[in-house]
Amino acid sequence: MEHATPAWALLAYLVAGVCFILSLRGLSSPSTSQRGNRFGMAGMAIAVATTLVTHVPMKLGDATNSYVGPDITVIGMIVAALALGAVIGIVTARRIAMTDMPQLVAAFHSLVGLAAVAVAAAAFLAPQGFGIAGADGVISPVSRVEMGLGAAIGAITFSGSVIAFLKLAGKMSGAPILLPARHLINLGTIAVILGLTGYFTVDQSPWVFWTITVLAFVIGFLLIIPIGGADMPVVVSMLNSYSGWAAAAMGFTLGNSAMIITGALVGSSGAILSYIMCKAMNRSFISVIAGGFGADASVGGGEAREQRPWKRGSAEDAAYMMKQADSVIIIPGYGMAVAQAQHALREMADLLKKEGVSVKYAIHPVAGRMPGHMNVLLAEANVPYDEVFELEDINSEFAQADVAFIIGANDVVNPAAKTDKSSPIYGMPVFDVDKAKTIFFVKRSMGGVGYAGVDNDVFYMDQTMMLLADAKKMCEDIVKALAH
Ligand code: TAP
Repeated sequence: MEHATPAWALLAYLVAGVCFILSLRGLSSPSTSQRGNRFGMAGMAIAVATTLVTHVPMKLGDATNSYVGPDITVIGMIVAALALGAVIGIVTARRIAMTDMPQLVAAFHSLVGLAAVAVAAAAFLAPQGFGIAGADGVISPVSRVEMGLGAAIGAITFSGSVIAFLKLAGKMSGAPILLPARHLINLGTIAVILGLTGYFTVDQSPWVFWTITVLAFVIGFLLIIPIGGADMPVVVSMLNSYSGWAAAAMGFTLGNSAMIITGALVGSSGAILSYIMCKAMNRSFISVIAGGFGADASVGGGEAREQRPWKRGSAEDAAYMMKQADSVIIIPGYGMAVAQAQHALREMADLLKKEGVSVKYAIHPVAGRMPGHMNVLLAEANVPYDEVFELEDINSEFAQADVAFIIGANDVVNPAAKTDKSSPIYGMPVFDVDKAKTIFFVKRSMGGVGYAGVDNDVFYMDQTMMLLADAKKMCEDIVKALAH
């Protein structure tokens, strides 16, 4: 039954929207991120409560065919669904390992997409209940477009996110799967979806709606399978953006301003994040979407690896040399996250600082496996924020640094990105670690490669000492050696 949204509810939605904006603002820095999260939670609580109060499910009287009071069964179902979702969310948040976060985000996006499809389907099947059709059941053409787009974007988000999840979780090969004529098939399918959405405005037949939805499920799958693992974070952020636009489209159908505001915020922030990541990897957004990156990454630089001379160092060597240094720049990467070495690393840095050494942390925008990955881990270990620097702010300092201490990073310090046009990471901005007087490179083995699967010249440089061990164990050993 349609009813105009009361003024107080519109105001509440506005407050929720402001909370979401403050939440995004807070999340832009580790020091304010907890406050940002609280704003997000408050905004969501206000939005959900307002929607529930203004849309209390009503019960139809058998004889009178008019509403006779709140429908306790439906209200019970809604509360049970909220409780179940909250329990799943709390348990997952407590259990999830930091390294599994990207696939968790992908899994969550798939649910947002599915929810948008479910809302569009419900609106299509019971349009009067949503106030978008008269007694004759004819849905307004504008609502049909919103519904078609909401279902299509939601379905693409769902199947695309499922593939992204499977690839990131290692349950499906991360290599791009390239179908012949895939661009033609993809563009053709998208054109058919758009054409059918237009046709939907003049023909409300169920086949039109369901064909749009099924084609969108298929295209979501086809769009993501050609995309290689290294581009997956951009894809996850892009799907995040899609899920926002799907929610905004459904917000129009439902006349719910909170959904429109939230959807637009998620849609635009996801798009901006995708852009920032593309820039950090020196990739164009179009080339990411077109897929195929990393298809031959596994063969990159492989043969030369074992034949070239390199030097092995020990924890004692590292402790001794860093104690003597004036300045040490630490470059953490994915391996630090895997080893959970951040606490031992901070202890090492604390001891060095006591010796009068200047210690700084250099964070690459795509170090690790998700945006902000390293910042979160260092913040967890209480590393002071003023010791943490972004790529562009610290890169010029390597030339004056005595030691570059690379811990579990690889691609982000690979000079091939600057010099080797055939490298899959060519063009990605990287740290100029080769300019430091001494380099310590912590990783487990000479054979292990970084995400892009390519060899790294830094291993073989004159000033490099390889510290081959688990990152946490190595830091603990250096701490012991420093303490002596
Ligand atoms: P990577 O290039 O992936 O290198 C990780 C290094 O850590 C490897 O050298 C590995 O060598 C070492 N390692 C793994 N486990 C370790 C452990 N327990 N102890 C010590 N070392 C360990 O890391 P990176 O430099 O952070 O680069 C990130 C890469 O991921 C980039 O190519 C980026 O494009 C891509 N990527 C980024 C994101 C985002 S948004 N951050 C998301 C997805 C992909 P061993 O195996 O020999 O130990």
